[in-house]
Amino acid sequence: MKRIAVLTSGGDAPGMNAALRAVVRVGVSSGLEVIGVRQGYTGLIEGQLQPLGPRDVASIIHVGGTMLGSARCAEFRTPEGRKCALQVLEQNAIEGLVVIGGNGSLSGAHALSQAGYPVVGVASTIDNDLNGADITIGVDTALNTALEAIDRLKTTATSHQRAFVVEVMGRSHGYLALMVGIAGGADVIVIPEVESDPDNVAAALHDAYVRGKRHAMVVVAEGAKWNATALATYVTNHRDRIGFELRATILGHVQRGGGPGAFDRLLASRTAAQAVDLLAAGKSGVYTALVKGLISALPLERALVPKPPPDPELVRLAQRLAR
Ligand code: F6P
Repeated sequence: MKRIAVLTSGGDAPGMNAALRAVVRVGVSSGLEVIGVRQGYTGLIEGQLQPLGPRDVASIIHVGGTMLGSARCAEFRTPEGRKCALQVLEQNAIEGLVVIGGNGSLSGAHALSQAGYPVVGVASTIDNDLNGADITIGVDTALNTALEAIDRLKTTATSHQRAFVVEVMGRSHGYLALMVGIAGGADVIVIPEVESDPDNVAAALHDAYVRGKRHAMVVVAEGAKWNATALATYVTNHRDRIGFELRATILGHVQRGGGPGAFDRLLASRTAAQAVDLLAAGKSGVYTALVKGLISALPLERALVPKPPPDPELVRLAQRLAR
């Protein structure tokens, strides 16, 4: 193998640049030419390619987002789109591809691999919803960003004796909400995987008020049926039942932005380096991730399987800590 390409796809994540840097530098140190594909699979279909050398990825390890750009590409989900992408790879004598992204992006990588093309994925999404991975690139930084916001909200909440509903990202998986809820001392955590009742949330807030708390914090995942807007409307309409005045804050894309912390830089560097080594050694159809504490390779088809719900022990711990 002489020439490989790399792309970032789907929602960006802090640490993607560190992964790109590792792909380029490990690739070059193994004697490979590395081509960057701009704008994810969209750029692959359109042939948006740029050669990348070690100096092109200088000073990006600490920078958020992805220097190559990213996209969600509907066309790539069609056989015609993938055919175009394969033609671009062939026309440019690119013999293997590294895809850095979450489950949608790695499902795309799986489709390419099924077509016989050498591809290795690198697990990267702030949602931590990738089957098999302990924790993916971007999660730790996103957690710390959300945690800082919650800590800040607590000081203003305490000043005014208010309750806050804070919505964090997570379409179908409540990992971010559960973990930041525990770390941020939430009184209630609402995630898509666990049935929740707004009356119980109101009762928990009232209980906190009666116990004399100066603030109360509800952390909800965006994908939960009772997201921040729905819950805040419901609870505000029952103000007499909770005591606290309530405010809602949606953190949104703030959690995806900003530079990666040490954990994500290291995870990105290690998983991306392994992806290149595997590709160069002729392995394909896998993605690299932290699995049971070790940098490992899992079959790409695993990315198609939904991640199981969070550990019930963690859900129980969150409830026991909210006193
Ligand atoms: O990348 C994952 C994610 O941040 C989800 O948590 C969120 O639902 C989604 O992406 C938002 O996507 P977009 O940036 O396309 O609005």
